Amino acid sequence: MTKLLPSDKALVPFVSVDHMMQLIHHIGVEETLRGLADYIEADFKRWELFDKTPRVASHSDKGVIELMPTSDGDVYGFKYVNGHPSNTKAGLQTVTAFGLLADVASGYPVLLSEMTMLTALRTAATSALVARVLAPKGSTVMAMIGNGAQSEFQSLAMKAIVGITEVRLYDIDPAATAKCAENLAGQGLKVTQCTTAEDAMLGAQIITTCTADKQYATILTDNMVGAGVHINAIGGDCPGKTELAPAILQRSDIFVEYPKQTRIEGEIQQMAPDHPATEFWEVLTAKAKGRTSDKQITLFDSVGFAIEDFSALRFVRDQIADTGFFHPLDLLADPDDPRDLFGMLQRAKA
Ligand SMILES: NC(=O)c1ccc[n+]([C@@H]2O[C@H](COP(=O)([O-])OP(=O)(O)OC[C@H]3O[C@@H](n4cnc5c(N)ncnc54)[C@H](O)[C@@H]3O)[C@@H](O)[C@H]2O)c1
Repeated sequence: MTKLLPSDKALVPFVSVDHMMQLIHHIGVEETLRGLADYIEADFKRWELFDKTPRVASHSDKGVIELMPTSDGDVYGFKYVNGHPSNTKAGLQTVTAFGLLADVASGYPVLLSEMTMLTALRTAATSALVARVLAPKGSTVMAMIGNGAQSEFQSLAMKAIVGITEVRLYDIDPAATAKCAENLAGQGLKVTQCTTAEDAMLGAQIITTCTADKQYATILTDNMVGAGVHINAIGGDCPGKTELAPAILQRSDIFVEYPKQTRIEGEIQQMAPDHPATEFWEVLTAKAKGRTSDKQITLFDSVGFAIEDFSALRFVRDQIADTGFFHPLDLLADPDDPRDLFGMLQRAKA
């Protein structure tokens, strides 16, 4: 039997982990972070036209598996992502992901991509975009609490987009801090390894919490946080999984991605359902105020929203067009007669 080759209509560009890494190095890590932040900013500025829904979560006692869909009317996207804080003990990552873009008019997928690397990049790009707007002007020092998989990306995005020059690291596991310090060596940041969270926060205008623990944790207590700082809270992103003492939330002006999702998953799950929270896209479009005083504590209660993944996939799609860092994947059955799917199967019989 002659082997039937897939037609062009069957093929979807697939970006593997290997191609993603090649693409990032081709562009440059910091340039990628800046590019992603530009795409995320552009999509946040057209926030109202997107389909939005809290992500669809399937919880277990070990973690969560989530689907994150959205559409701008022309393009549809979704991400599959998990969050399993105890995975690292088994040599597995806490967070892995892949995602897809599709053409709304035909429903045909136009990109399938790894998103474990891309999630770390897009989360960091979003954090830095928010900090660029909300953190005290001229911020140079960031405390980085939680030195796991996301931490280097967070640090480099704050350097590339906000202009920080020093990162102060703390993790309950000193090996994680040592790994992060080693990875950041030679990247143009002053890196200080600390043995307590309090020490890490000395002189920091930006405090990033990026820990993984499936409980109401208290990474920061109220007395640790002084006036005027910006808190970038990344790790509290599931029901029953938070990082900040509620008293900090009472003292902060809180900024969120999509309130319907953040009230379920973010730090503000600890507060009353009507506790004030400003949508960040409204600050970007001057519909709402951001930082208004030097004394104010701004808090980005980040959980990660589908539009950020959509923007990231859009960025990748635009970049691979020129660079060729993808495989054409035989993903879609394409019979000669669209109604003869069974005939296509029969013809493929050995
Ligand atoms: N908001 C978002 O968009 C977003 C995106 C990706 C990941 N996340 C979340 O970010 C968190 C970190 O992800 P990761 O991939 O870096 O996880 P990871 O498991 O690789 O790293 C987490 C680190 O936190 C440390 N840690 C745990 N408890 C701590 C404590 N009390 N004090 C200091 N350090 C502590 C661990 O030792 C570990 O090194 C996870 O909770 C994940 O769900 C959020």
